[in-house]
Amino acid sequence: MKKTRLAVLVSGRGSNLQAIIDTIESGDLSAELAVVISDQAGAYALERAEKHGIAAMHVSAKGYKGRRDEYDALLAEKLRGENVELVCLAGFMRIITPTLIRAFPNRILNIHPSLLPAFPGLHVQKAALEHGVKFSGCTVHFVDEGMDTGPIIIQAVVPILDRDTEDTLSTRILKQEHVIYSRAIQLFAEGRLVVQGRRVVVSDGKTSTTEFLMNP
Ligand code: GAR
Repeated sequence: MKKTRLAVLVSGRGSNLQAIIDTIESGDLSAELAVVISDQAGAYALERAEKHGIAAMHVSAKGYKGRRDEYDALLAEKLRGENVELVCLAGFMRIITPTLIRAFPNRILNIHPSLLPAFPGLHVQKAALEHGVKFSGCTVHFVDEGMDTGPIIIQAVVPILDRDTEDTLSTRILKQEHVIYSRAIQLFAEGRLVVQGRRVVVSDGKTSTTEFLMNP
């Protein structure tokens, strides 16, 4: 099977990037990492890429204040230059503009640490705890022109425990992020994701047979 050429866009520690690299190296993901791009100099994610011999770039956003679409045009140019087929945002802490989205229609994925559409934005594990929901989790979705609003590909549910802090909850959610991101990318690589309006149907897919979850 032909390998999908991926770019991963990061801003920080890059644990999701690491999970993607590990899954590719274990042979369970038919993808090759063309490039890792960070908007932050010194992001640990760049070091992770370099350790694995993957091209790593810092594309500084300095000088692009109020000109986000120009920064995104620069990103699009770099991604095209690497013949990227799928762009994965993994802790990329910038809102991307239509300039980038239209350059890669239905070819940009994002991972978010909540069960969207609940808790979009930032500090979402804290928000879930404060709201008192009994389940949270994570979501991989296609990126559209809204914030955290695009069609949902896959979600994993994580129960919230009475003793949870923002830290403990974030850690358990992150563990599932590392599983579902690679799974979503593999489904994309296999050409099995069919976007029908807001719904993403997985062709030949098995959906969950769990009838319900209850907590407590
Ligand atoms: C992850 O939890 C990811 O879901 C979140 O940032 C973290 C990055 O961690 N992304 C967002 O909140 C996007 N709105 P990582 O750098 O270790 O992959």
